[in-house]
Amino acid sequence: MIKRRRILVTSALPYANGPIHIGHLLEVIQTDIWVRFQKARGHECYYVCADDTHGTPIMLKAQADGISANTLIERINREHKRDFAEMLIDFDNFGSTNSLDNKALCERIYLNLRNAGHIEKRTIRQAYDEQAQMFLPDRYVKGECPTCGTADQYGDSCESCGATYSPADLKNAISVVSGTTPVEKESEHYFFKLSSFEEDLVMWIQSGAVQPGVARKLNEWFTQGLKDWDISRDIPYFGFEIPEAPGKYFYVWFDAPIGYLASFAELCARTSLKLEDFFKVDSCTELHHFIGKDILYFHTLFWPAILQAAGMRRPTSVHTHGFLTINGQKMSKSRGTLITARRYLERFPCEYLRYYLAAKLGSGLDDLDLNLSEFSTRLNSDIVGKLVNIASRCAGFITRSASGTMSSGEQSSGSLATRLPEPQLYAEFAAAGESIAAAYESRDTASAIREIMTLADRANQYIDQRKPWVLAKSPEKLLEVQAICTQGLNLFRALMIYLQPVLPVMATKSMHFFRETAWSWESAATPILGTRIAPYEPLATRLDPKAVAQLIDSDPIPPPLGPANMVTAIPLAAALTPVARSTSNVSDTLSAGAAAAHITIDEFMRVDLRVARVIAADLVEGADKLLRLKVNVGELGDRLILAGIRAAYDPQTLIDRLIVVVANLEPRKMRFGISEGMTLAAGPGGKDLFLLSPDSGASPGMRIK
Ligand code: 2FM
Ligand code: ZN
Repeated sequence: MIKRRRILVTSALPYANGPIHIGHLLEVIQTDIWVRFQKARGHECYYVCADDTHGTPIMLKAQADGISANTLIERINREHKRDFAEMLIDFDNFGSTNSLDNKALCERIYLNLRNAGHIEKRTIRQAYDEQAQMFLPDRYVKGECPTCGTADQYGDSCESCGATYSPADLKNAISVVSGTTPVEKESEHYFFKLSSFEEDLVMWIQSGAVQPGVARKLNEWFTQGLKDWDISRDIPYFGFEIPEAPGKYFYVWFDAPIGYLASFAELCARTSLKLEDFFKVDSCTELHHFIGKDILYFHTLFWPAILQAAGMRRPTSVHTHGFLTINGQKMSKSRGTLITARRYLERFPCEYLRYYLAAKLGSGLDDLDLNLSEFSTRLNSDIVGKLVNIASRCAGFITRSASGTMSSGEQSSGSLATRLPEPQLYAEFAAAGESIAAAYESRDTASAIREIMTLADRANQYIDQRKPWVLAKSPEKLLEVQAICTQGLNLFRALMIYLQPVLPVMATKSMHFFRETAWSWESAATPILGTRIAPYEPLATRLDPKAVAQLIDSDPIPPPLGPANMVTAIPLAAALTPVARSTSNVSDTLSAGAAAAHITIDEFMRVDLRVARVIAADLVEGADKLLRLKVNVGELGDRLILAGIRAAYDPQTLIDRLIVVVANLEPRKMRFGISEGMTLAAGPGGKDLFLLSPDSGASPGMRIK
């Protein structure tokens, strides 16, 4: 008898400013499979998640969309819930970090920390945007790398040389929010004294709470020494105000993991469950978090330390997975490889993706590739060619030759299993249940699927050897045909029981085909005999590889050109890109430095480069980097372009000059007006910027080839 465990499980909370994409799906599918497996084994297991709704990017996105943050997060919450439900992600509760429960829990936990002496106030200097009147997170300051001089780098690290620094070190820094030069300003912040928990964290890690690869990474961090953690942000900020600290808000990463508790609290409120039972210090329940490797620091250092400091239990385990790549490439909007859940769901059955990812997921941190041609080959071969084939080959004979009734094996005596024509074969299938379960338990779903598919091969071999289609031609062999197909169907049944966590709908349909009402893991231990089956309906159809290839957007967002990026102020929309990280690894732009990826000739040809004549050039009030250019693009008419070239050009010297512009860039609303194109220039920026011009003889409107 297996001891009944009480388990609470979470997946990382998706940000509430964008759609669910395939990177999120990898994680929730992994978690959902684990949870369904635990439930099938008879454990008491709850799965909660929520939207991660706070922080600067969400505040700015709502502003850019001209709606309130609440309106934005409510809309996104509906979309996220719908996508997850269609992917068969069976949350017991999906909440929002912007809930009253979360506010109360954040305050309670914070006051516990403060009263126990784990919070310290310190004054820090930070980049401040005087125009937008806000402090700027590191990713909202851009400029030239202080180490290698590469332009257009974020305020925390350089994508070209890998240097890390603070925004104040950047040269020619500008605020991503307004395009103005940030200043440094002091502010009082609240720090959680993480360094006091170092020894406890080491012990927690040694308790086996993380995978070995994660433990190695954590040791590196311990060697560098743990830094205290700034948990506060200044107004304006979309989040919860800190008690007794007017104008100071909890940093989004403080309230997000507390959102796990808040979501569970909602479940407790509508059931007889008690939050306390799962979070008190000596709880004998389990707490498991599933995350991507990019948010390790938060979950394996800050979070267990916060829980301990607040007098609560720490996680039993943090399970970390690797990143998802598409056809071997990082997911990227501009390359069209950022596949949204919607895009997938509009085209293919959700269980195909669940199966494919399960077949590739191991228990480690390795990255996993969604290769689209392998996707169709694998699905067609495993699900259609092997698994479903067993049932479709046998069902017809039972229906036609045995009036839909499986043989009872009454001629043999003994247990049900021994009444099948090949009891030993069924016994192998039943015995495999334990090793398959062990693989699921350790999240090595790839091994579980391998073992299940090896058994599917065995079942097909059995049918091939016994050839019921030949025997069925002789009326005196019909009992034998019935027995063989009863054996085949029972082998299929065992496999579907093992695949329940991955393919819940196909498993339920199969269960109904056997006219059964419930399956647990144990159901595979015993075959069913002498019962009627329902008419067989196809459980899966083949995938068309051509249709699968179209999952990648054939009309991706064209990548911005490097130089053009340098000469226009960064639009507000770009301010939103830092948050577009996946539960994984989305990059939104192709950078122009050494690390730039290739674009195809077709992608390049979509950029409409034209000669234009400057007919007016003016300063832009309030913007110290911009000029407003009116340019004539021949047949395309006149355009207004906001270009960040003020430091390099006196506007009057530009009148009548021929320049090169991107003419088919979607007009963009910027803080200082709408920009209807982009000028091209070379150089690192600031004073060192050189507009590109055609040789004499060119005229406005000519295409650049
Ligand atoms: O990285 C992210 O996508 C975060 N929204 C994950 C938060 S998980 C948890 F801590 F809340
Ligand atoms: Zn650099």
